[in-house]
Amino acid sequence: MEERKLRDGKEAMEREPHTPVTESLFARKSVRVFTGETISPAKKRLILEAACQAPSAGNQQLYTIIDVTDQALKDTLAVTCDNQPFIAKADMVLIFCADAQKWQDAYTAAGLSPRKPGAGDLFLAMEDSLIAAQNAVTAAQSLGIGSCYIGDILENCSRHRELLHLPEYVVPAAMVVFGYPTSQQEERKKPRRAELSHIVHENQYRRMPAEELEEMLKPQAGERPYKEWLDAFCRRKYMSDFSVEMSRSAREYLAPFLEDYRFDGCEFTEKE
Ligand SMILES: Cc1cc2nc3c(=O)[nH]c(=O)nc-3n(C[C@H](O)[C@H](O)[C@H](O)COP(=O)(O)O)c2cc1C
Repeated sequence: MEERKLRDGKEAMEREPHTPVTESLFARKSVRVFTGETISPAKKRLILEAACQAPSAGNQQLYTIIDVTDQALKDTLAVTCDNQPFIAKADMVLIFCADAQKWQDAYTAAGLSPRKPGAGDLFLAMEDSLIAAQNAVTAAQSLGIGSCYIGDILENCSRHRELLHLPEYVVPAAMVVFGYPTSQQEERKKPRRAELSHIVHENQYRRMPAEELEEMLKPQAGERPYKEWLDAFCRRKYMSDFSVEMSRSAREYLAPFLEDYRFDGCEFTEKE
């Protein structure tokens, strides 16, 4: 523990001055209340182009971005994504879909006989999608536009498949809502991050003992006793209905990528 503190101190002394990019990364926080001001088409285009500048595996851009412009669809997503009304009030709603379908379709259309997409293809497509999404978030931030990820897009697989017309090898990796922040949102304190010493492990993964885990998480508990806070957090975030539903839904998305499942056009069943 002592050794870690010394290392942290050294890191602090050795810290480089901020650049405009790092300053923007440190300043960025989620925005959930918007002024209602419209994002101009030119700014929107710049954000989308910036997303596509992200690196991608083999430059395949294994993602498709669904730009949700239909207010009725936004309203529905505000409900299906765990009842979060601010989704419907966002000027720009983008769904970054991990897309293992389009190359498959291109190979097939060209008369090739590609193997079916597997779990590795999905993981790569997820990576591509999330890197592109974060580029969009950062580009928006540089334009004074706030954003918030909505993890709940991973819930309700069948409903979202139907709503967004997702074929079997496409998975919504991330939804991000964008809009200009209200002054209250701008002034809101950014939640603190864990110390680097807990997050960065040298050369090998180091499983953290109970006392270090407590040291890492305790600042989040504030005035509350650590165990009481952790129990409430676990109930709210990990044991909650939305979290269980997300895992169920993720299994459904995963099924076509796993060979031991069969897809009959609308349902996935485990092969005997
Ligand atoms: C994958 C992911 C899913 C998230 N889902 C939601 C969400 O459904 N609703 C929400 O209000 N915030 C959501 N957030 C925002 C986080 O709560 C937020 O990033 C975190 O508390 C840190 O706060 P900050 O972004 O303001 O620094 C999500 C963030 C990520 C990265």
